Amino acid sequence: MTKVMATPDQPSLDQTFPCPDSAFAETVTEVEHYTDRLFRFRLTRPASFRFRSGEFVMIGLPGEKPVWRAYSIASPSWDDTLEFYSIKVPGGPLTEHLQKIQPGDCVWFRKKPTGTLVLDALLPGKRLWMISTGTGFAPFASLIRDPEAYEKFDQLIVTHTCREKDELTYSLNTVAETKSDPLVGELADRLELVTSTTQEESALMGRITTLLEDGTLYQRLNITALNPEEDRVMICGSMAMLKDVKALVEARGFTEGSNSKPGQFVVERAFVD
Ligand code: A2P
Repeated sequence: MTKVMATPDQPSLDQTFPCPDSAFAETVTEVEHYTDRLFRFRLTRPASFRFRSGEFVMIGLPGEKPVWRAYSIASPSWDDTLEFYSIKVPGGPLTEHLQKIQPGDCVWFRKKPTGTLVLDALLPGKRLWMISTGTGFAPFASLIRDPEAYEKFDQLIVTHTCREKDELTYSLNTVAETKSDPLVGELADRLELVTSTTQEESALMGRITTLLEDGTLYQRLNITALNPEEDRVMICGSMAMLKDVKALVEARGFTEGSNSKPGQFVVERAFVD
């Protein structure tokens, strides 16, 4: 894992993307690579920019023909900088270039947050489930660091399933940092992370759909099975996973919510693929 931090006396070594004078321009402050397919980065936060934890924005790179992609903001709404978690797609129009950014470089950022994985789209409940695969963990990295989530729910359960163990590093690190954070650390005693892998041996193996259907997850957490009276569910991952988890919760009587009509579960795809 390589981590590159910007400090005043250590400028970026390679100014690949100089920051032009643009209303969209934000500066990269930190980059951390986890695998050859995954990394996270932080950008300066425009003073006027407000968002709700769990929302996404459009990110691009300066150039003759900028390409924009939707990215969930992975930092909470109170944070000074903005964190993003990204896949690196070989030959991908944006990520092929974005993966090369260094502190000091410029990234374009549209200040229009939107999305359905927000607390406002859910009815009150006892437990908040945040079910993710791959980079779908990003919006939950924001929500688990937001005190409002702990005000609204007694217990937060975040699940993250990936093919291999290395792909779990970001969620494991983020939850560990959240639990020792001065602002939300004490609240995060009520946060449980469950990670599983599907293609490499690990402590817990299996797709999230299987772990929910065969009861493994409930036994592990010592809780009752998903039910619309107590539980609220947010889902973020690939289209196939969203479809299957949505069917699973609907079969248990959950109704889908939105910003205009809060419900018992909400869904959003993990965007960059
Ligand atoms: P699997 O390895 O069995 O396909 P991906 O990288 O393809 O987005 O997958 C991320 C994780 O999501 C993998 O662990 C994958 O399991 C799992 N997954 C893929 N499709 C589904 C689905 N329809 N329901 C639940 N989990 C899924």
